[in-house]
Amino acid sequence: MNRIVSDIHNCNVVELIKIHNPAGNITIIQNGRHQPFNVKRVYYLYDVPGGSERGGHAHKALYQLIVAASGSFDVILDDAINKKIIQLNRPYFGLLVIPGIWREIVNFSSGAICLVLASQKYMEEDYIRDYSEFQKFKHDSSDSRCSDPFNR
Ligand code: TYD
Repeated sequence: MNRIVSDIHNCNVVELIKIHNPAGNITIIQNGRHQPFNVKRVYYLYDVPGGSERGGHAHKALYQLIVAASGSFDVILDDAINKKIIQLNRPYFGLLVIPGIWREIVNFSSGAICLVLASQKYMEEDYIRDYSEFQKFKHDSSDSRCSDPFNR
């Protein structure tokens, strides 16, 4: 895979497979089919009090697919030049967030579940939690392309 440029234009919503059933639908996310990385970790945010904001960081190498498994929330994406806001409100859409993107997650509806599929196990050293450090990271990066999601 060609390494993609780390900007918000490469963070897109993908439609996931949905199997309709009057008794309840199923959505499937499978390695190699629905996201450009293998999933090594899954976590989810829930019981988020109204008005709470999550995120507020960037990752150096982590790829994520974010899904509103229930309810809705807004994801603010920022590549230190441009920003965009994506509302997620259906469990059959996923937002790909590539490395080097500052994200904030806001406007959680009551009962919202933010499901995150991630390309790596948890590593605190992969986080950038300070916005000015993030700006410096983007400014100093001689190579604006993302790390290989498969670590080749
Ligand atoms: P963080 O990713 O900062 O949460 P958010 O972006 O949703 O606000 O994680 C919050 C805390 O949870 C932080 O102390 C690290 C810990 N954590 C883990 O230990 N493992 C994980 O896989 C995740 C996502 C977080």
